[in-house]
Amino acid sequence: MQEKPLSQMGLREIRDIARLRMSHSAWEHVMGAAESRATFRRNQKAFGRFLFRQRIFHDVTDPDTSVELFGRRLTTPAFIAPIGSFSLIGDRADHQVAEGAGLAGTMLFASHAAKPTVQEWAEATSAPIVFMAYLNRGKEDTLKCVRQAESLGYAAVGITMDTIQPVKIGDEVPLSTKDGKPRKGYPASAKNIEWLKSETSLPVVIKGIMGSEDARIAVNAGADALIVSNHGGRILDFNRAAIEVLPEVVAAVGDKVTVLLDSGIRSGGDIVKALALGAKAVLVGRPIAWGVGAAGVQGVVRVVDILTEQIKRVLILTGVGAVSEITESILIQDQA
Ligand SMILES: Cc1cc2nc3c(=O)[nH]c(=O)nc-3n(C[C@H](O)[C@H](O)[C@H](O)COP(=O)(O)O)c2cc1C
Repeated sequence: MQEKPLSQMGLREIRDIARLRMSHSAWEHVMGAAESRATFRRNQKAFGRFLFRQRIFHDVTDPDTSVELFGRRLTTPAFIAPIGSFSLIGDRADHQVAEGAGLAGTMLFASHAAKPTVQEWAEATSAPIVFMAYLNRGKEDTLKCVRQAESLGYAAVGITMDTIQPVKIGDEVPLSTKDGKPRKGYPASAKNIEWLKSETSLPVVIKGIMGSEDARIAVNAGADALIVSNHGGRILDFNRAAIEVLPEVVAAVGDKVTVLLDSGIRSGGDIVKALALGAKAVLVGRPIAWGVGAAGVQGVVRVVDILTEQIKRVLILTGVGAVSEITESILIQDQA
C-alpha cells in the first residue's frame, strides 16, 4: 500500500511509521518509562479530566497561535523538549530536530546530554535555543557551555534538576548515550540555581518542578522560568501527572515567573488545556522523536504543524481569538 503524503498524516500515523523505521532498541528507549509506567500513562490520561466549553456564535476564524518568550516571538506554543538521546534514532537526528525546529517556528530546548555541542546546535537551527544543563556533567563544563550559549545568542539557559536519581526504563537504568557510562543521579540544590544566576545574564530555566514547595524554592533562588515536568514518567513511578500539578505551581509562583509544562502532550487540545491552566507554552518530547524517526526534518516540522493546527481548531471551536487570550473559563472539569 502506498504511504500517504506526510502533509496528510496525523500524529498516530507518524508514530506508527517511526516505530517501523526506528531500531527496536531506540524505540524501547524513547518510549520507555520508569518501572510500572504508571506515571507515563497518567500524564496522558489526566488531560481527559478537562473538557472544553464549545462556543459557535462568534467571529473567530483564524486564531493567532504565536507566543513570546525570553524576548523571542514563536509561531506556536508547542516547543521542543530536551532529549539527550535523539542520536539513538539516527546519526543526524539531533541536527534534523534542530533544523525542523527552525522551520516550524518553535523554540528548541537543547540537552546537555545530547551529542551536539552548544555551537553545533546553533549552527543547525534558526530557532531560538535554550541550553538545558545536567550538573552531573560538571559545573566547569556547564559554565563553559553557558558562556558559549551567551556568545551564540541563545535565548536562555537552564538546569534539569529532577534527575536526583537517574532515569529508569522499566527496571533498568540506561547507559548514557553521550559517553556510554552508567547514569548517576545528581542532588538538586537551590544554591546551584543561585550559582547559575550569578554567572549569567540570560534567563534561567529550572526543569523538573512537581509541586508548589519546590516551585517556591526555585523562584526564591532566582529562577526566571519553571518547567512543570515529571520527565515524561521516566523518574518516579506513581508520580502525579504534570497537568495535575500545574494549577498549584501557577497559584504559588505564576505571578512572579513564567511557567511551562511538559509530560504527556499528545494533541493541540492538551496544549490549550495547559495554557488555560496557566502555562505560557509547553514542551513536547516523544512526539518529536516520532517525527524525526518517521521522516527526519520534515517529520519534525509536520509534528509541530499538526499540534498547531489542532490548537487553532480548538480555539475556533471555543471562540478564542489568540493563544494569549486563553483563560480557564474555556475548561470544565469532567464530573463523570
Ligand atoms: C528519550 C528521552 C530522552 C530524554 N532526555 C532528556 C534530557 O536529556 N534532558 C532533559 O531535561 N529531559 C530529557 N527527557 C525528558 C523530556 O525533556 C520531557 O520532559 C519529556 O519527554 C516530556 O514528556 P513526553 O515525552 O510525554 O512529551 C527525555 C525524554 C525522553 C523520552
